[in-house]
Amino acid sequence: MTSDVRPIGIYDSGVGGLSTLREIRAALPHEPLVYLADAGYLPYGEKSQDTLERRALAVADYFVSRGVKAIAVACNTATAAAIGTMRQHHPDLIVVGIEPAIKPAAQLSRSGVIGVFATTGTLASQRFAALAQRAAPGSRIVLRPCPEWVMLVENGQLDDDAARASVNTAAGALLAEGADVLVLGCTHFPFLQPLLRERVGPDVHIVEPGPALARHLAHRVQTEAATLLAPDGFVGGCELVSSGDAGRLRAQARQLLQWDLPAVPLPPPWR
Ligand code: DGL
Repeated sequence: MTSDVRPIGIYDSGVGGLSTLREIRAALPHEPLVYLADAGYLPYGEKSQDTLERRALAVADYFVSRGVKAIAVACNTATAAAIGTMRQHHPDLIVVGIEPAIKPAAQLSRSGVIGVFATTGTLASQRFAALAQRAAPGSRIVLRPCPEWVMLVENGQLDDDAARASVNTAAGALLAEGADVLVLGCTHFPFLQPLLRERVGPDVHIVEPGPALARHLAHRVQTEAATLLAPDGFVGGCELVSSGDAGRLRAQARQLLQWDLPAVPLPPPWR
């Protein structure tokens, strides 16, 4: 990135956060963006709290070395496990996270039953339990951990027999419980939304929090870092960084977003 406008860092375990990156680009068209996939440690869904905190701090330190003005944790699992620690270590940075959209789901549901797809880690977290109690006290929430969906998306299997079978089984189980709203509580899952829609039909709501995160991030940057904003017309670009295989990340972004972006490996100190 050649400009001196401070970038915004976006972070996920892998390619899931690319679904959020797309929303952030739409909300903040001029900002330079750095997208970090911590693919060397993927998947996050079953990692310990300790590992997730260590990785989140390493990633935050890397972003600080890049001079970011804000960090978006585009990963529900990392948000649940580590956003508090990141904020503690970087009190002067804007750090926003993402969590399952339980509140909008409760408002949409007529049956009073909400289905949530997420990682095992997100669903088992204290943060999720508190969110469910606060945001939907009168609803029944049925949970479905879908670690296999993360790997399907990582492998680019968005429309094959294995993906269809997995989506059909998981969605069928939540529909059988009476859910009329399905929450995508993992940033990888919007890439499987076409298959999910095919299975559940037009009358079931599918909600995902990516657009809300992008709006929230834009609002915070515009109000709290207004002097650091990229000028109108500025072309900030987007760079990909991976703690795994940078070439693979570039190919994945090409498939998932149809964007051809430069990709570099995460330097050793932060691996
Ligand atoms: N995309 C991540 C999330 O939103 C986690 C996927 C994983 O690494 O297990 O939770």
